[in-house]
Amino acid sequence: MSHRITPIDHPVTFEIDGESITGQDGDTIAVAFVAAGRTTLSRSIKYHRPRGPFCLSGGCSHCLVRVDGVPNQPSCQVDIKPGMRVERQNAFPDASVDVLQATDLVFSKWFNHHEFLAGVPLIEKVMLQVARKLAGLGLLPEKPAPTREPPVVESVGVAIVGGGAAGLSAARRLTERNVAFTLFERDRSCGGRLLHGCDEGAPAVVVPSGTSIRTGATVVGVFSDDHKPFLAVVQHQRLHFVFYERLLLANGGQPTLLTFPNNDLPGVFASRAVSRMIRKHGVLPGARIAVVGDGDEAKSLAKLIGANGGTAVAVGAEPLRAHGVRSVQALTVSLQGRIEKVDCDAVALCAPVSPAFELARAAGARVGWDSRSHLFTVETDAAGKSADTVWVAGELRGPMSAAAATEQGLVAAESIASAIKGATP
Ligand code: FES
Repeated sequence: MSHRITPIDHPVTFEIDGESITGQDGDTIAVAFVAAGRTTLSRSIKYHRPRGPFCLSGGCSHCLVRVDGVPNQPSCQVDIKPGMRVERQNAFPDASVDVLQATDLVFSKWFNHHEFLAGVPLIEKVMLQVARKLAGLGLLPEKPAPTREPPVVESVGVAIVGGGAAGLSAARRLTERNVAFTLFERDRSCGGRLLHGCDEGAPAVVVPSGTSIRTGATVVGVFSDDHKPFLAVVQHQRLHFVFYERLLLANGGQPTLLTFPNNDLPGVFASRAVSRMIRKHGVLPGARIAVVGDGDEAKSLAKLIGANGGTAVAVGAEPLRAHGVRSVQALTVSLQGRIEKVDCDAVALCAPVSPAFELARAAGARVGWDSRSHLFTVETDAAGKSADTVWVAGELRGPMSAAAATEQGLVAAESIASAIKGATP
């Protein structure tokens, strides 16, 4: 069972479907939910299967809930507040016992709701309503959206996206070279996996002081106006258009969901979500956690789990099938040629992250298929340059350790500094 490693000392009580839950100040809704031993946080849109948080980084859509009347909020990105009203959505009568799950049994193989009874007068209209109920996502907000202020328009010399290992080392090197920059980090603090991942023996987190580091700032797109590129950044619910001369992308990747039957059961987490829960929130998501997948990461995560009072099982095994109804209760794995079923109440999937290359591609960088890692990665030269004014460092270029990402950040920053000095008369 999940539990808190460190007791709550700043309690915050909020409500999920009318039930009070108390979490620690600084928890997100998803973390407080897991720490309270709950499992089904949402339902899949089409099959209404139970869903729990998976990535805890805003990338998988497994954790959407309605918060204070606003639908489809990623609960792993929303901090709990006293009196907050959270509703699980897309289920009838509620997310724990969802009768709409019958669609999965009745139409388990080939239900095509685009064609089902389409063209039959009257019935078609009824079916449309039913299909909306079955497959729609959330309900409309209770209140109209507040009027938004117009975007803030800004200009920077160098923009860095991402404050993990690569972004921070680049910031450090640019500071040493007296190059002005602004770093945008989605999280409330910089550090990424240096702070919340497994211990890889990577360098400590050093945030250069006296520089422009903007945390809680999400870059949502790259556009251009009259051939001048700019980032669209959301910070404190305000949109900013940030025009830049040079761009360094170090925004990493998203956890990968390994393929095996029932991999969507609540209790199956990305490995970085597990280490984040332990190191950032003091929450152990299970008493017996199967740590499967990539060997090195699995070993260090197993160590972290053991050091915090949990038991890691099936370390480094290949997952074949998860078992359970509302949440994972066992996992069939292949380990050193043997197939066995191990009891567990959580699973951590250790696999290389999938590069989040969308911003890079929008900025003009080259994206290609890497046959070694079987991932789409951003292609660069040795200095990390991918397009005229675009550099890339870290896991956007493929799976790598935090130490290697740090080194790439330094090299890219050096190249940017040289380009600027070379261009300065
Ligand atoms: S988006 Fe919240 S757990 Fe993945």
